[in-house]
Amino acid sequence: MKELQIKKKNKQFFIETWGCQMNEEDSEKLSGMLKKQGYTKALVREYADLIIFNTCCVRENAELKVYGNLGALKKLKEKNPELIIAVCGCMMQQKDMAEAIIKRFPFVDILFGTHNAYKFPEYLNRVKQEAKSVIEVQDKEDGIVEGVPIDRESDVKAFVTIMYGCNNFCTYCIVPYVRGRERSRKPEDIEKEIEDLVSKGYKEITLLGQNVNSYGKDLEPKVTFAELLRRINKIENLERVRFMTSHPKDLTDDVIEAISECDKLCEYIHLPVQSGSTNLLKKMNRNYTKEQYLDLIYKIKKAIPDVAISTDIIVGFPGETEEDFEETLSLAKEVQYDSAFTFIYSRRKGTPADEMEDQIDDTVKHDRFNRLVEVINASSAQKNKEYEGKIIDVLVEGLSKNDEAKLMGRSRTGKLVNFTGDKGSIGKLVNVKITKANSFSLVGEQI
Ligand code: 5AD
Ligand code: SF4
Repeated sequence: MKELQIKKKNKQFFIETWGCQMNEEDSEKLSGMLKKQGYTKALVREYADLIIFNTCCVRENAELKVYGNLGALKKLKEKNPELIIAVCGCMMQQKDMAEAIIKRFPFVDILFGTHNAYKFPEYLNRVKQEAKSVIEVQDKEDGIVEGVPIDRESDVKAFVTIMYGCNNFCTYCIVPYVRGRERSRKPEDIEKEIEDLVSKGYKEITLLGQNVNSYGKDLEPKVTFAELLRRINKIENLERVRFMTSHPKDLTDDVIEAISECDKLCEYIHLPVQSGSTNLLKKMNRNYTKEQYLDLIYKIKKAIPDVAISTDIIVGFPGETEEDFEETLSLAKEVQYDSAFTFIYSRRKGTPADEMEDQIDDTVKHDRFNRLVEVINASSAQKNKEYEGKIIDVLVEGLSKNDEAKLMGRSRTGKLVNFTGDKGSIGKLVNVKITKANSFSLVGEQI
């Protein structure tokens, strides 16, 4: 390690990211800005001159991980007082959090929020000149800042944010408080970014937003999400388009039609249900009933043959009775999800659900969680089985993680496929015959 430190010329940075794709994308922007300043990426924290923690606060355990990791940085800072430590992301947007962090971890040099992350280079310069920590958290979101350089993780597929923030205020969720109100990027800016990615060889784009179905409502002139999808579908040499996240209350027929008609839009929808109980959905402020959600699922399945559907489900929301939970189980069995992110309800300060009286006991929450995971795993395995013997399109992303003799990629429906094939196919679309289905992935051979 010593030798490496002597040899290195450029300053190195290391970013640790917790949370959702939005945070991943923010980290890619931080990385892009730093590379522009001459920094290079460190392989491990220990080699870095600058460490950034991009935090998440959607559930309590995401926060606990940040505290644990910050504690571990104290020793590194003692060994190398020149090391700069920055903390950013959603946690910073919580009231008084930045002050609490600096009190508990006084060795942190820079704290900034989600709304002003694009100003990070400025804060970095300041901390190098001033002998005190820089704390810059804004309550209000700035307008959308275009043109921030992005250093992307993959050369094959990219995330493109189409809108920021959320207006929904589901009663359990902290996101609207830390990410601000909905703001849409202009369609021209989105198209330009995608065209630029395609010219660099990217094949697949995932459009990101907390609630993509309300895209464009704030624009002048208004643009619907379906219109945006149809415009993006026209971009030459782009192969695949995905998007997330859709809110069931806003997923309109024109979006379903666009998916069924546009060749680049993949047959995959992430449609968080959160609960199968209409009573709980009301307490969660979700604005749909179990029946309306199921009707939507049938509409989607009818319009888009072989569509894959995934979801998010929370167990143990305040007041969830055994009957409510069984409604969730019955819904999951009926939908037959391809996959689901399952969560144990976590109390978040400042949200209405945290104030609700009938909080659920931890053992009950864990028991329900395990029962739900069993149902989800069974449908995932069943859905994957349907692929055995089929020949499908796979976009090759790289070498397989568990076996470097194999390649890995994804189907249009988002299934992870490990397969034997030609290493020259990385970055390309190939045909793969599926020979075996596991619970969470498919196995095959390139043909
Ligand atoms: N507790 C548990 N899960 C939550 N989610 C959001 N807030 C909470 C919370 N307080 C889940 C929802 C959402 C996903 C991103 O995180 O299911 O769709
Ligand atoms: Fe949170 Fe609901 Fe907005 Fe999703 S739609 S980010 S769950 S408030």
